[in-house]
Amino acid sequence: MCGIVGAVAQRNIVPVLVEGLRRLEYRGYDSCGVAVLGAEGPRRVRGTERVADLDAQTQEMHFEGVTGISHTRWATHGAPTIDNAHPIFSNNALAIVHNGIIENYESLRDALRAKGYQFASQTDTEVIAHLIHSLYRGDLFAAVQGAVRELHGAYAIAVIHKDQPHTVVGARAGSPLVVGYGKGENFLASDALAVAGNTDRFAYLEEGDVCEITLDGVRIADRDGHAAQRAVHAVQAYGGAVELGPYRHYMQKEIFEQPRAIGDTIPAADPFGADLFGANAREVFDGIDSLLILACGTSYYAGLTAKYWIESIAKIRTDVEIASEYRYRDSVPNPRSLVVTISQSGETADTIAALKHAQSLGMKHTLAVCNVATSAMVQLTELKFLTHAGREIGVASTKAFTTQLVALFILAVTLGKLRGHVSDAQEAEYQKLLRHLPAALNGVLALEPQIIAWADEFARKENALFLGRGLHYPIALEGALKLKEISYIHAEAYPAGELKHGPLALVTEAMPVVTVAPNDALLEKLKSNMQEVRARGGKLYVFADADSHIVSDDGIQVIRMPEHYGLLSPILHVVPLQLLAYHTACKRGTDVDKPRNLAKSVTVE
Ligand code: G6P
Repeated sequence: MCGIVGAVAQRNIVPVLVEGLRRLEYRGYDSCGVAVLGAEGPRRVRGTERVADLDAQTQEMHFEGVTGISHTRWATHGAPTIDNAHPIFSNNALAIVHNGIIENYESLRDALRAKGYQFASQTDTEVIAHLIHSLYRGDLFAAVQGAVRELHGAYAIAVIHKDQPHTVVGARAGSPLVVGYGKGENFLASDALAVAGNTDRFAYLEEGDVCEITLDGVRIADRDGHAAQRAVHAVQAYGGAVELGPYRHYMQKEIFEQPRAIGDTIPAADPFGADLFGANAREVFDGIDSLLILACGTSYYAGLTAKYWIESIAKIRTDVEIASEYRYRDSVPNPRSLVVTISQSGETADTIAALKHAQSLGMKHTLAVCNVATSAMVQLTELKFLTHAGREIGVASTKAFTTQLVALFILAVTLGKLRGHVSDAQEAEYQKLLRHLPAALNGVLALEPQIIAWADEFARKENALFLGRGLHYPIALEGALKLKEISYIHAEAYPAGELKHGPLALVTEAMPVVTVAPNDALLEKLKSNMQEVRARGGKLYVFADADSHIVSDDGIQVIRMPEHYGLLSPILHVVPLQLLAYHTACKRGTDVDKPRNLAKSVTVE
């Protein structure tokens, strides 16, 4: 979602500000802009095209400056127009960029209007700009401190003022902001990645912090206004472009990286040792009587799969909730429950808020399964398990999902072992299955040409149904989500047993029905559900495995997975669904890596 970059230097920093935006592009945005301080006040260039266009514009105009801020915006308040693009000005004196949402912006706007301020955009951000302007008495830092005291909601901001050359003031609460310490120049960014290469020394600002960067120093005050020090870490964020290599899109590349990502996520030594989750994990695991998994989107489907594993292997009751629902409903807290948050980014606003909500209800045992070691979520939990998917750029999550599944399977077996439900022989078998996963995945990826042939047919459809049962129901959900988010085909998933309670009414020759059909305990039941579809003229597209004994026939096409993979079968079965969505989207000519209206990191509610 939105991205912030700020810089103070003795060189022209526009290329740094624009390059920073380019690196944050993958998170999703619909407009962008950059502002620098000139002799007459701030000047800006904004656009609703790509960052590459902004770059071309700034070069053509010789737009230069030594103090500046830049932004990628994902519209919340106000359409993605030039007027609403950041940086937002107040009275041609100051410019601001903002991530997050200000909840009390309407009352603040009314109060500022009463003072004579005129609004040129529909953004909540303009309220902050005018508020700071109204409080400015020659000290931008103090004005920002005063302004943020009046804000309710989430924000990370960076501000420049015409009377304070070589100064950028930032503040954060609820949205991340880091300070980059350079030599004779300093930076602000919503993610270290944006300015990596200019410095590798970063401090992560804390909730309520206000900071000021100048040429030779950084000043930070905490939420109470006291001077604060924040630890400076050496962060080797890789800022270079991630090469596409032989792939057409990042999503395709990331699908094919899964054997490597999974191999990197499986611990080299004992993969089922409690200490993998933290030094005191064993003690925590011994004291819990249930799990509460909280997540959004694809990560939520990883959680749903984990429920099957944890209840069956470790025999521990597991609830899975969509974070945005859990945070606002009245629930019955169980202090003996382990709260598990799952997130690729570790930044998803709803998941972080749900975690804090659970903590506020007295649930102190928490575990984050996350792909970003430096993310806010990882700092908030007692225990952590880091997945090693590497940077995921495609908005539609692929390798982050399968590595989450690996982490959650490891959690299930670890808990099962501690509770005496996993015998040595079973443990050895699980270990063997895990170690062989990368090779098994390579076998699945080799099915791509057959899947491309199916994608030709799907590209002409407007609807699709996905069916699965048991462990593979969440995989059907994930397959439908992939198809809808990147190809814009309406897709729904059902546990196959629910077919006759509604969706069967939709089944005609025009409705492709994708079925995930490995040879598990529910296969015979699933075959009956498939007959219900065939009897109504529906077209079945079945992903079976080596042992499923389902063959292609009239109204039924089968792609056979190379191996039957037991409990870990969901990790293999999701891959052809990713490929089907990907190739269908390619044939429909959509923007696969940046689907319309979606963002990679959803840092607002
Ligand atoms: C967005 C992304 C999805 C992701 C979801 C949760 O919707 O487009 O790919 O699954 O956020 O994100 P998280 O980073 O918490 O896993």
